[in-house]
Amino acid sequence: MSITIAELQRKKDAGEKISMITTYDATFASLVEAAGIDMILIGDSLGNVMQGCGNTLSVTVDDIIYHTRCVMRGCSTPFVVADMPFGSYQVCDEDGVRAGIRIMKESGCHAVKLEGGTRCVSLIRRLVDAGVPVMGHLGLTPQSVNVMSGYHVQGKGDKAADTLFNDALALADAGCFSIVLECVPRTLAKRVQDALSIPIIGIGAGPDCAGQVLVLQDALGMNLGKKSKFVRTFATLAQTITDALKTYDQCVKDGSFPSDQESYH
Ligand code: KIV
Repeated sequence: MSITIAELQRKKDAGEKISMITTYDATFASLVEAAGIDMILIGDSLGNVMQGCGNTLSVTVDDIIYHTRCVMRGCSTPFVVADMPFGSYQVCDEDGVRAGIRIMKESGCHAVKLEGGTRCVSLIRRLVDAGVPVMGHLGLTPQSVNVMSGYHVQGKGDKAADTLFNDALALADAGCFSIVLECVPRTLAKRVQDALSIPIIGIGAGPDCAGQVLVLQDALGMNLGKKSKFVRTFATLAQTITDALKTYDQCVKDGSFPSDQESYH
C-alpha cells in the first residue's frame, strides 16, 4: 500500500517533514523506497538528467509515461507524482485534462504536477474533479526558462513576492494537495507555508517548508557540472562510479576479469 495524500497531510499537520526525490527508473525507485523516502517525482528534469538536453522543453507525455512506468515497477510505498511536460497543458484545459488522465491511466502514478499560478486554476479544478490529484509548482518554473531569461531566484521584491503568494493561495483554493516551491527567498517560502494548510515542498526555498525535494543525481553527486547553491550532495557517486569503471576497464584489459571462479565449469 502506498503513502496517500491523507498521510502526507497528516505528516505536515504533525510537523513531520516530508522527503521527496526525483527518480526515473526501476533500479533507483527500489533504492529510494528502501531509504524510506515519502514521495517520488518523475520530473521533466529527465530531459536534462536522462536525455542530456539543456532544458526540460522537449520532454513529451510519452517520455513521462515511459519513465513513470519504470519507476512504478520498482517501488510500491512512495507516493508517486509525474510531471505534466511542456506543451501538454498550456494551449487549453481540454489538452491538459486529456494529458493528465492519460499519464495517470497509462503509468499508474498517484498524481501529476504542473507549473504555473493563477492561469492554471481552471485546469487544476477540472483535473481534480476528474480524479487526478494535482501538485502545483511555483517560483522557478523551468518550462518558462526562456520567458525568465534563465534560471534565477524568483519572488524577489515586494511585488514579485505578493504575486507568488497570491498564486499559491489560488492553487490551494483550486484543489492542489501540495505545491513545489523552487528557488525563492526562504522568508517568502515561510510566508506561503504559514498561510496554507497543504504541504509546501521546497527546492531552494529554505527549511520552513513542510518537505524538501531534490533531483536524485544532484543529491547523489553524480553530476560533474556546476552545482546550485541549494543542492547538498549526500554522496560523491560520480567519483565512486568512475573509479569502479576504471577498475573494471583495467581488469578486462589485463585479463584478471573474469577469474576461474567467475567462469562456468
Ligand atoms: O522536474 C523536476 O525535477 C522538478 C523538480 C526540480 C521539482 O520539477
